[in-house]
Amino acid sequence: IVLFAAAGLLSYVIGSIPFGLIITDLGGAGDIRQIGSGNIGATNVLRTGRRGLAAATLLLDGFKGFFAVVLCGALLPLLLPDVAALAAVCVVAGHCLPVWLKFRGGKGVATGLGVALGLDWRVGLICCVLWLLVARLTRISSAGALAAMFVLGPLLLAFDGGHLVNPVPWAGLAVGLGVFLRHKDNIGRLLAGTEPRIGRKTA
Ligand code: G3P
Repeated sequence: IVLFAAAGLLSYVIGSIPFGLIITDLGGAGDIRQIGSGNIGATNVLRTGRRGLAAATLLLDGFKGFFAVVLCGALLPLLLPDVAALAAVCVVAGHCLPVWLKFRGGKGVATGLGVALGLDWRVGLICCVLWLLVARLTRISSAGALAAMFVLGPLLLAFDGGHLVNPVPWAGLAVGLGVFLRHKDNIGRLLAGTEPRIGRKTA
């Protein structure tokens, strides 16, 4: 139980590293929370016009999700998949609700994709392709993100052979639900047809 709690806490701390904020600050692009949507994710970093910083944010936010799931699984191999499921939820929670930023974190997309790759690389790959495809077709980042996160839980369940006792698909559902909740404003704008296209300065 103690090791389990430690894995959850470690994942939360890893997730709570605000790479978007750190990278834009180090890159001299200002405080990302004062720009565009105010979100600390890669989509908003792109609104600074600094593609390299946005790519770095995407990769690092994604990597921390992947890393937490794989690390915790490796530390407690006997508890895998339970610990992987816990790490998945906690690392995304850390990204979205970091204690250091008064719980005002990101929307969990890049970290959610990293988590998906860590839980099941096949599912992660499908989610990444779907995210890129929808974002490219619609030119709306949140549309791609929501599509990918919508299928995460069901795909994990399908690839696991429909075993509802396995916690991994439930973790996928929880991560997907969390990302949807963080996109409340984006969903409102999508429905109203006012969600900005990728690269536009406003949100
Ligand atoms: O990755 C977050 C994206 O889906 C939406 O970001 O800044 O447009 O709210 P943003």
